[in-house]
Amino acid sequence: MKVLLTENQIQSKIKELAKSIDDFLLKNKKNENDIPVFISVLTGSIFFFSDLIKNIKSDIIVDYLKVSSYSGDTTTYNVKILKDIEIDINDKIVFIIEDIVDTGLTLKKIIEFLKDRKPRILKICSLLDKPSKRLAKIKVDYKGFEIPPEFVVGYGLDYNELYRNIPYIFVYEQQNSK
Ligand code: IMP
Ligand code: MG
Repeated sequence: MKVLLTENQIQSKIKELAKSIDDFLLKNKKNENDIPVFISVLTGSIFFFSDLIKNIKSDIIVDYLKVSSYSGDTTTYNVKILKDIEIDINDKIVFIIEDIVDTGLTLKKIIEFLKDRKPRILKICSLLDKPSKRLAKIKVDYKGFEIPPEFVVGYGLDYNELYRNIPYIFVYEQQNSK
């Protein structure tokens, strides 16, 4: 098994990301009633989302969006919204929290979908970025790690729904699954 990122590497990166996000929120909040909305893109971002928001000191509201785009390790290029958010994001600072940006097609769809609701600021934060496979032009405002074009699992990321519960990130190898 090829471990790509250990629990320690992930947690220390999350602390850095949370700090820069807090700095941004302090500078961009209009007033005390302007509470930012953090949206977890299910299911892959569950651990990243919970660890990240535990390190954020500003008041925030959380919500969840579920999309589907993958079957196995190849994209179907057919991004569907399976669960909508429930909070009104009009005029709000909104952070989309993703596990990984690969082709960028999932985020492109999510951004178009959420922009219709007129958030004041829309920021993207992703734990992982695979820039070499990009098809849609996406700006990842806050990113944890750039990784090579390999299929990775663990810490929320799955292969056919498996391996999400492993606390670190490793490269998935077809022959020898762990
Ligand atoms: P994109 O639309 O190609 O950018 O893919 C984004 C989604 O595909 C992510 O939110 C993941 O759910 C999934 N994905 C992309 N690459 C990987 C990977 O290496 N491991 C697990 N899931 C992945
Ligand atoms: Mg995902």
